[in-house]
Amino acid sequence: LEEGRFTVCSVGAGYVGSLTSIILAAQQPNLRVIVCDVNQNLINSWNDQRYPFYEPDLDKQFDIAVNKNKNIKFTTKITEAIQESDAIFICVNTPPKKESREGLGRESDMTYFDMACQTIASMGDPKKHRILIEKSTVPVGTHKRIHNILSQNLANPDDCYTIVSMPEFLAEGVAIQNLLFPDRVVIGTPTDKNGMEAFEVIKGLYTNFDTNFIHVRTASSELGKLFANAMLAQRISSINSMSQLCETVGASVQDLSKIVGSDKRVGPLFLNASPAFGGSCFEKDIQSLVYILESLGQTQQAMYWSQVLYMNQFQKTRLLNMIVQEFQNPTDTILTIFGFAFKKNTSDTRMSPMAFFVYGLIEKGFHVRIHDPQANERGFQIEMEMQGFSIAEKLNFEFCGSDYSKAVKDSNAIIIGTDWDEYITTNYRNMRDQMNNDKALFFDLRSIIDQQAINFLGFEKVFKLGN
Ligand code: NAD
Ligand code: UGA
Repeated sequence: LEEGRFTVCSVGAGYVGSLTSIILAAQQPNLRVIVCDVNQNLINSWNDQRYPFYEPDLDKQFDIAVNKNKNIKFTTKITEAIQESDAIFICVNTPPKKESREGLGRESDMTYFDMACQTIASMGDPKKHRILIEKSTVPVGTHKRIHNILSQNLANPDDCYTIVSMPEFLAEGVAIQNLLFPDRVVIGTPTDKNGMEAFEVIKGLYTNFDTNFIHVRTASSELGKLFANAMLAQRISSINSMSQLCETVGASVQDLSKIVGSDKRVGPLFLNASPAFGGSCFEKDIQSLVYILESLGQTQQAMYWSQVLYMNQFQKTRLLNMIVQEFQNPTDTILTIFGFAFKKNTSDTRMSPMAFFVYGLIEKGFHVRIHDPQANERGFQIEMEMQGFSIAEKLNFEFCGSDYSKAVKDSNAIIIGTDWDEYITTNYRNMRDQMNNDKALFFDLRSIIDQQAINFLGFEKVFKLGN
């Protein structure tokens, strides 16, 4: 590293591949970093310094890497990138399977991952031993799968590559902070000499980071990532499971979070009630975990984790039904959704819980308007189509972007779906004036507003999730 010859490459320039690479390049001026992807548009946008997504604090780190250190490049020349590299991070997408009957929507689709491994295998060279790092979230046992793929191309794969698992724990919206100050860096390696060496080399990449290293077996590292996401999601389903009871008995779900979260054994984070957890990972990773458990005959354990997903779906259905029941004539009713990104501080709309609401409300005949400070219409459309809604056929919605006036004019309700800070502080008095004169309701599905303040603004009903 000192001599400036060590090169790493990320295969995949999406959220994980690009952000981890930018931070490594910014923090380690002597490291050479290459980010490659099959998607030419994506690579073009990185090269043109147009960010393909919104992520707070990205510009400063990008500027350090690209303009000051000048040690990062973005390319579609994947084989060349691998050829030049000493360590390769696989950061491709691992979505749930779409086309297999057995594992439909549950088993991880490893097509992109396998393709990346095949390309890497084709570049194997016993004269240049490399570290091959799984960074994508993958089923436990994937290191064996990689070894099989390498074996089909190479006589002695272990002479060319040491396979390592190094899962990523960043959360979107706070990704830069998470990457600069990781709670831990988990490195799963074989227990032999190659594995020990790989651990030391990777540790060396993180010399400028203040973090803890957890060096474990490869299988533990792979499974630990799935379990970490399952545990986080379980907390959300747990607090969500209390929200209706709070509404019924006059308790407050935020009070419950405080009471439980101030116990050091539980901790305060990830106890915010919501219309459901969304995002591209929690559901897919729990589905993957459930599928693995079922495949191994561990049915009771699979049922246990399935309940986390069941509760997530139940919460969405309960809240959608509650909103629908408030209106007699859907076709004469305009509803405004505040927030389509799956959480605040991101433009990412993948698996946004609000897609379910928009879909359900349009199906019932409502006219739906969507406001979001960062999500764009293309992302909205892709997500709606992904969730089975044909954008072309149904025209009963308007995507308003960040235009509040367009979103609330003559509307019969505001429904807060994403926890953007501006939805706490925005001028609702002003908005109420622009909404329907006769009937306007307020639904806070993120439990973020000051209910007493909103009560005075002339809404017929103000609902706050979990009181
Ligand atoms: P993404 O869809 O944003 O990016 C994946 C990229 O890989 C795409 O740009 C795609 O074009 C590219 N790709 C696919 N096959 C390729 C190939 N053979 N060669 C080169 N490029 C290829 O996905 P993401 O959100 O970055 O997630 C990637 C992985 O990391 C997933 O397994 C995910 O579960 C995991 N993960 C994601 C996050 C997150 O917050 N997004 C956090 C932790 C872990
Ligand atoms: C999550 C994990 O937090 C990361 O550690 C992990 O690396 C990542 O998944 C991954 O593997 O992809 P992310 O999905 O980006 O990160 O965002 P989160 O902050 O976890 O939020 C996920 C969803 O849960 C969002 O819809 C959010 O609004 C919701 N949420 C979160 C709640 O409903 N309540 C909470 O208290 C926290």
